[in-house]
Amino acid sequence: MKQDMIVVLDLGSEENPKIAREIRALGVYSEIHPHDITLTELKALPNVKGVILNGGPNRVVDGTAIDVAQEIYDCDIPALLVDHRGDDPWPADDGARKTALENFVFTICGADANWNMDNFIADQVELIRRQVGDKKVLLALSGGVDSSVVAALLIRAIGKQLTCVHVNHGLLRKGEPEQVVQVFRDEMDANLVYVDAVDRFLDKLAGVADPEKKRKIIGAEFIRVFEEEARKLDGIKFLGQGTIYPDIIESGTKTVKAVKSHHNVGGLPEDLDFELVEPLKMLFKDEVRACGKALGLPDSMVYRQPFPGPGLGVRCLGAITRDRLEAVRESDAILREEFARNGLEGKVWQYFTAIPDLRSVGVRDNQRAEEWCVIIRAVNTVDAMTATVENVPFDLLQHITARITSEVKGVNRVLFDLTPKPTGTIEFE
Ligand code: XMP
Repeated sequence: MKQDMIVVLDLGSEENPKIAREIRALGVYSEIHPHDITLTELKALPNVKGVILNGGPNRVVDGTAIDVAQEIYDCDIPALLVDHRGDDPWPADDGARKTALENFVFTICGADANWNMDNFIADQVELIRRQVGDKKVLLALSGGVDSSVVAALLIRAIGKQLTCVHVNHGLLRKGEPEQVVQVFRDEMDANLVYVDAVDRFLDKLAGVADPEKKRKIIGAEFIRVFEEEARKLDGIKFLGQGTIYPDIIESGTKTVKAVKSHHNVGGLPEDLDFELVEPLKMLFKDEVRACGKALGLPDSMVYRQPFPGPGLGVRCLGAITRDRLEAVRESDAILREEFARNGLEGKVWQYFTAIPDLRSVGVRDNQRAEEWCVIIRAVNTVDAMTATVENVPFDLLQHITARITSEVKGVNRVLFDLTPKPTGTIEFE
C-alpha cells in the first residue's frame, strides 16, 4: 500500500470530518473509524501511523461515556488525545490547530505526505482486487458523478468482472444516456447493459400528479428494472455502490445521530444477497471529482451539477406528458449551452428549467395559439438548505427566451424565478 494513514477514532465529535479533512490537507490520508474498533482491526488497516481521539458532547451515549479499548491506549501506535475527554479543547485558531496537527502527524508519527489521487487509486485498485478476487460485481450506473467515478475505478481494478447497468428511465437530461454509453462502453470498453425503460416509466407515471407519488413510482420502478437485469446475470457476488463520505456522515455513525438515511440502491430484495464494494466511501465530494479526473472521465461528467434522482420527472410539474417532458429537456439543454457559452457554467451552483402544467395564449405565425410556458431557475448555495438567486444578465435572459420560444416545440413564453430558498425550494416539487 502506498499511503500512510492517520486514524481518527470517533468518540462522537461532529468535528471529526473536519479533522480528517485537515490531515488530508497536509497531504496525509486520514479515515474515521468507530470508537469500538479492536486493536487487531486497527492494526489490520494499511499503514496506520497514528490515531486521534476526539470526543465532544455526543461522547455520552445513553448516559454512559463511551471510550476506546484500553489496549489501544496501551499499544505502540502514537495517539493524540488533545479533546477526547472534553476538558482540553482543540485550539480554536486555525493556525494553532494546523501547527498542532503538523507536529503530531509528521514529528510524532513520522508520516509521509504521500496522499494524492494516484496513490489513492493505486491503493483502492489493490483493495478492490483483494476483496473481489475472481468474482463478479454489478453496478447501477446512473451517469451521476458518484456512480460514474466508482464505475471508472472498478473498471480500472477488475475490468470485465464488472457489469454496469444503465437504466434509461426517460427522465435524464439531453445527451446523458448517450454519454454514458460512449464513455463507458466505447471508450472504457466496459461491460455495459443499457436498458431502454422509457416507455415503462412513462406508462407507470401517466396521470400521476402528486410529486411524492411520482418519486415513489420512479424509485420503485428503478429497483424493479435493476432487479430484473440482475437476475439475468449469473454468478454476481458483489454490488458496487457510489457511496461517498457525506452519505455516511448524514446517515449517522455509532455516536453521531443520523441526519437522513441514504440508500443508493435501497430496497433490493434480500434474496439477491450481494456484498457491497464501496471504494469511495471515505472521499468527500471534491475528492470524488478529483478521482474521476485522474481516472480520465470527461469534465462534463465530473463537474456535473446536482441533479435530483427522479430527474426531469420532478421538473415536468404535475402529471408528466411526453410533449412537456421533451420541452423541459430541450429548454434545459439550451439553458445549459448558453450558460456555458457565457461563462456561467461552474459559477452558478444549479440551473435548470421546469415546465408547469400551464398553457397561456400567445401569437405564432400570426395566429392565436395556446402553448406551454417554461420557467428558468438559477441558484447559488453552499449546502442546498438555503439558496439565493443568481443575477443573470438581462440580455442573456432575453437571448435564452428567444431561443427557447423559437426552438422548443409548443413553448411560447419563458419566466424567470426570482424566489430564494426559503420561501421557495430549489426544485418546484
Ligand atoms: P430542494 O428542492 O429541496 O433541493 O431545495 C435541494 C437539492 O436537492 C436536490 N433534490 C433532490 N435530489 N432526489 C435527489 O436525489 C430528490 O428527490 C431531490 N429533490 C431535490 C435538488 O436538485 C437540490 O440540489
